[in-house]
Amino acid sequence: QNEIYFTGLSGTLPDLPMTAAGLEARAREELTAEAYAYIAGSASTERTAAANLDAFSRHALVPRMLRGTTAPDARDLSVEILGTRLAAPVLTAPIGVLDLVRDRGETIVGQVAADLGVGSVLSTAASSTIEDVGAVSGDSWWYQLYWPADDELAQSLVQRAAKAGAKAIVVTVDTPGLGWRPRDLELGHLPFLRAQGIANYLSDPVFRSKLATAPEDGPEAMQMAVLTWASLFGNHTLQASDITKIREWTGLPVLVKGVLHEDDARAVVDAGADGVVVSNHGGRQVDGAIAALDALGPVAAAVKDRATVLLDSGIRCGADVLIALALGADAVLYGRPWVYGLGLAGADGVRHALRMLLADLDVTMGLAGLSGVAEIDASVLRSVGR
Ligand code: FNR
Repeated sequence: QNEIYFTGLSGTLPDLPMTAAGLEARAREELTAEAYAYIAGSASTERTAAANLDAFSRHALVPRMLRGTTAPDARDLSVEILGTRLAAPVLTAPIGVLDLVRDRGETIVGQVAADLGVGSVLSTAASSTIEDVGAVSGDSWWYQLYWPADDELAQSLVQRAAKAGAKAIVVTVDTPGLGWRPRDLELGHLPFLRAQGIANYLSDPVFRSKLATAPEDGPEAMQMAVLTWASLFGNHTLQASDITKIREWTGLPVLVKGVLHEDDARAVVDAGADGVVVSNHGGRQVDGAIAALDALGPVAAAVKDRATVLLDSGIRCGADVLIALALGADAVLYGRPWVYGLGLAGADGVRHALRMLLADLDVTMGLAGLSGVAEIDASVLRSVGR
């Protein structure tokens, strides 16, 4: 904040907008139609995507005064989540196929998040290899698994991640197949059906063992690899009890992402999961689904005493993080805004989007009378009907 105001004194204006909505508007003007549709698009009428944002305005912070929290050094936002130390309760959400947005996208995000001391979650659908991203992502990154139809491949992916330094595995369970996504459909465009969409699979020895010819052998071999990928992508028979396999394979904590019903949360925690991510995938899977924030309270009530609870889908500003934590989340995953930043300005854009969120959270906490994350609970909120 101060940095921007002081630079402004000399007439220098910031290069990028100062809100998530501003970043999206700029991205719409500047990114390719495919990249913008891929990031911005949600399922069907996109009303769940809209509900995700709307839900936050039904909860209001009630700031407390005269608490000595307003000096810049009066606050400590750091947390420890499943053994991972973070400078703030924020990790970048797993986002696939980032080469579509910016070359070496996953590497850039992992590196910037590590520089800022926040966490990052690397997608299975990455266009870089696990090893390349792990090498630059410090010691606060986790790996997200789309559990394939073949356990041997699942095991290979998570063991590579563990070896590359991942500190937890996040199993996404809301995407055994893709939702109905009109923006991508209208462009006839599925990012995964390109070499860059399956690069991480192409680097996997188990995946390669299932191919008749090496994908490097030409366009036809590549097409075969894409078909093999498609046949392996979703696991339609995955059960809560499968979760424990991840711990056997890696010894790492396991979180289950995409949980919205409290009974599902209970089932996966009963089966041994260490945490859940309450998420509707940014409204990209089931249109008409409950806003993630509305699902958070019941899930937290069901499992928070024995599991870590994270939230994503709709985090756009500092107050959103505060509200999510007040309703029971231990931390949040931050999604689309930094992806727009990545497309607009590479590492600088990701850094900008993350610093904007962190500074807004820091300032808002201080002005609301909060000096640390442990003080955030339901007492800082009132429900306001709309
Ligand atoms: C995603 N998301 C996602 N989730 C996941 O588990 N693996 C993945 O590969 C992806 N890929 C992906 C691509 C894009 C372009 C988007 C926008 C989202 C979902 C993501 O992790 C997170 O749940 C949502 O982004 C949260 O919604 P908001 O806050 O970004 O709207």
